[in-house]
Amino acid sequence: MSESVDTYHPGLEGVIAGETAICCVDQGRLLYRGYDIADLARHASFEECAFLLLHGELPTTEQLALFKQQIDGERELPGAVVDVLRAIPRQAPMMDVLRTGVSLCGNFSSAKSQGRSSLLTRAVRVLAAVPSLIAARLRVLDGKWPLEPKPGLSHAGQFIYMAFGREPTELEERVLNLTLVLYAEHEFNASTFAARVCTSTLSGLHSSVVAAIGTLKGPLHGGANEAALSLIEKFQSSAEARRWVEEALAHKQKIMGFGHRVYRNGDHRAFILEPYVDELARMRNEQWRAEVYHAIKETVWAKKQIHPNVDYPCGLVYHFLGFPSDIFTPLFVMARVAGWCAHIIEQHVNNRLIRPRSRYTGAPARAFVPLTER
Ligand code: ACO
Repeated sequence: MSESVDTYHPGLEGVIAGETAICCVDQGRLLYRGYDIADLARHASFEECAFLLLHGELPTTEQLALFKQQIDGERELPGAVVDVLRAIPRQAPMMDVLRTGVSLCGNFSSAKSQGRSSLLTRAVRVLAAVPSLIAARLRVLDGKWPLEPKPGLSHAGQFIYMAFGREPTELEERVLNLTLVLYAEHEFNASTFAARVCTSTLSGLHSSVVAAIGTLKGPLHGGANEAALSLIEKFQSSAEARRWVEEALAHKQKIMGFGHRVYRNGDHRAFILEPYVDELARMRNEQWRAEVYHAIKETVWAKKQIHPNVDYPCGLVYHFLGFPSDIFTPLFVMARVAGWCAHIIEQHVNNRLIRPRSRYTGAPARAFVPLTER
């Protein structure tokens, strides 16, 4: 083993920290298991993408039906989990509630072994539990009891039904499904890497997902979709937005929903989602918000040549769908848990402990001074 710690890349920028067959992210393309994100966004359901990520191939009709049946069979939360959702203080952030909920659900998961099929069973449980947890917490906060899942709905539709107690419209279901497809996977991003580090110690699937949820929460990662909407909501007009953004950039302030560690020519997912900002704004008669959206985007580009990432259009799209902003990042979890679980399994079946080195910048070696002499 090399003792060299000379090559240091702050934030691990540009470092190849592992191999994966799950996803390819580069300037020209975003592929899930070899399939272009544009094709998946146009043609696939989230459930097909989740199957693809977990199993490596798109499902046949029979495989997809069985997969959906397995997820549906795991949607109901144990009573004790609902009790905890009721006990958590109202003001707790939804991402913290979700982190606790997934952790708690892990204690009810009877699969003991860490073989591939056992990990797949647990992955299905977490995929099913996340929307149920978000929906149940929303209902509890509203003074209501969680709803039982309604058989036959899609993953996106089921969430809308369990959260809001009504059947989804075709548009809501289609657009939520699209965002789930776009958010499902993205190579070695911070939360996925956290999940792989945790997995590499053989800690177990639920622990790794909990590590990933904690990592996604931050506004430099998944939390940016909520932060991006709250920026857009600050302004009543595009002129006001332009002025504020120019000032903020002059003071080196970060604009949430812009920039990306990997993409320099724009985020493929943001390009796919952006047309829905204008379409939904027209339908909701809130064109002025879309104008603010474009004004911020144009100003950031004019001043810094930085493109929006997927979180920028997504915050506004979720707002137009009527979702409360504190579930935006939890909805990201609902999608990304598919990618996390695929990485957890990939890491597990070809594992080596992830343990990098650091460059020491502390005091030189020195003599110990006894307490009485300090
Ligand atoms: N607003 C203003 N300036 C920015 C932004 C931004 N959002 N992002 C990067 N920059 C600027 C930096 O200030 C820096 O400028 P300088 O060279 O003049 O000092 C330059 O671009 C490089 O920025 P870094 O922060 O070094 O880029 P890094 O690769 O470390 O950061 C990150 C990537 C964290 C995503 C960053 O762009 C950011 O903070 N964006 C806002 C948060 C966000 O939208 N996160 C979501 C990411 S996508 C996702 O997780 C789904």
